[in-house]
Amino acid sequence: MSLASDLFIPTLNQQGFAVPKLDPFSKRFTEPTSGTLLEIGAAFGFATLKALANGANVYANDLEPKHLKQLSDAADGKGYRGLKTIAARFPDELEFENETFEKILISRVLHFFTGEQIQRSLRKIYDWLSASGELIVVCDTIYFKHWEAVYPEYKKRKNTNKRFPGEFNEPLKHAEKWGQHLPEFYHFLDVESLSSFFKDAGFDIVEAGYINRKNQFPDELLYDGRESVGIVGRKPCK
Ligand SMILES: C[S@@+](CC[C@H](N)C(=O)[O-])C[C@H]1O[C@@H](n2cnc3c(N)ncnc32)[C@H](O)[C@@H]1O
Repeated sequence: MSLASDLFIPTLNQQGFAVPKLDPFSKRFTEPTSGTLLEIGAAFGFATLKALANGANVYANDLEPKHLKQLSDAADGKGYRGLKTIAARFPDELEFENETFEKILISRVLHFFTGEQIQRSLRKIYDWLSASGELIVVCDTIYFKHWEAVYPEYKKRKNTNKRFPGEFNEPLKHAEKWGQHLPEFYHFLDVESLSSFFKDAGFDIVEAGYINRKNQFPDELLYDGRESVGIVGRKPCK
């Protein structure tokens, strides 16, 4: 079964799919601003293009240079001037001066990171944001049909003191029904775990909640209206 469609564009490096229809958290990133923005794991940069259309200056990062070339070509084609692209592996290969950005978006990337990588990532981002700057994170959750068989183990772990209960090596071992496109490591995140990562990194939480992906993801993937989770954290003014 191929999931590729107008709603789900396959990445060129086997890193899942890019989603052209923006969820409400990603839309917040694109709202007009005079500050500089950073999108991490932008793929073809659908959120970045909208922010550029609204007049922002945006740094767009991705692992895959071919994604960023398509993004630059699209921006050039529309006459947008505020784009800089950086091909690098976040967080280790990406460096910026402290207090460079007003908003940073990481959409559908951190569920590929271990808990320790997430902690390290948020610490770096905290420094890169200006005072009152916002970090916006969107992740896919466990609430998909194909993860149903993993859910009991996840729920069990959440009731223990396990440090990162959502970390699963080879989750397919628990989910035999459905296999294509699923990675070997997956970190199931939810409102509680993401909020805890944000608080530990020093952010004030502005908003956190689940995202119903009806009309954004293919219908066959939809589960119970919690297919993704979004969070907005603000760096406090000291
Ligand atoms: C599932 S796609 C999400 C694309 C887009 N942000 C969205 O929400 O539709 C994940 C993207 O993140 C990129 N990526 C994964 N790990 C990364 C890392 N450590 N640093 C930078 N980019 C990364 C992949 O190359 C891919 O383009």
